[in-house]
Amino acid sequence: HVRSRRQRQMCIRDRERRASIMQIPIIIDTDPGIDDAAAISLALCHSKFDVKMISTVNGNVGIEKTTANALKLKQFFNSNVQVHRGASKPLLNQIVDAAPVHGESGMDGYQFPPVSESDLTSVHAVEALKNLLINSEEPITIVAIGPLTNIAILLSSYPEVQNHIKEVIIMGGSTGRGNVTPLAEFNIYCDPEAAQVVFNSGLPLTMVGLDLASKAMFTYDFVKSFKEVNETGRMLYNLFQHYRSEDFDIGVKVYDVFTILYLLNPQSFIVKEADVQIELDGKYTKGATVVNFNSQYPNCSVVLSPIGSEFKDIFLSSLKNCK
Ligand code: BDR
Ligand code: CA
Repeated sequence: HVRSRRQRQMCIRDRERRASIMQIPIIIDTDPGIDDAAAISLALCHSKFDVKMISTVNGNVGIEKTTANALKLKQFFNSNVQVHRGASKPLLNQIVDAAPVHGESGMDGYQFPPVSESDLTSVHAVEALKNLLINSEEPITIVAIGPLTNIAILLSSYPEVQNHIKEVIIMGGSTGRGNVTPLAEFNIYCDPEAAQVVFNSGLPLTMVGLDLASKAMFTYDFVKSFKEVNETGRMLYNLFQHYRSEDFDIGVKVYDVFTILYLLNPQSFIVKEADVQIELDGKYTKGATVVNFNSQYPNCSVVLSPIGSEFKDIFLSSLKNCK
């Protein structure tokens, strides 16, 4: 299953070439989530992306709320993207949530009009992902910004989808410290077994871990500037006021949005190949990503840091595409 370094480099070059000339078909698997909302907003509004589906997963808050939040964003942008509800709990783990960070609703801070359940497509996300992928003429990129439960169930239940997935861009993990426990990042910590399935799937993977957002903080002044841009900027500004991840004086870490910024401009980031495995047993370390940059058999491209502050320009110019 393991791709050679050369094949992976060709894949990256191919992505860069294609990205500059054509739309990137993507699926967003998500648990909105305030930083998820920022990623979804940019993706839905950018002409570079063809968002084929949003699948929801239990994570920051329960599945009913993450699904309602995805529908709120669909409605806000008047988008016709299909939203499918996915896994309501991790494969083996007990549910843990991040309501203290994102608020009780998962997207506290902005008054969205109520959404109707009729906007929700009744087919389960895993079935819908399988159908979409199998019937797609071109391979699709999966942007996974929540726990990896849906993707693990998809790959285990329908291995035939593998050839239809171009790559998986994962917000999860860290090359160093965690944000839930000393070594585990939230998305991986929520469902480590699912993460282990995905990291060992043989698919081309890119890990956008905690490292990146920690090195590319959104300062308060930067977030405040969104208000002047447009209605979406005001919506995101309001959500960020309720994002309890960090101290606003230092800046906020808008983890999920870096998957989209990276796809838009991979050359603005430092990336290194590594073998990434998930700690499944450790009493104190469960959910940690063990990242081996010296492995002969890398399974993942790890995005380590931005180059300069270009990420801010990419964010702002993408925001300007929104309403
Ligand atoms: C990740 O956890 C969630 O709280 C965020 O939405 C992001 O996907 C960061 O650890
Ligand atoms: Ca998320």
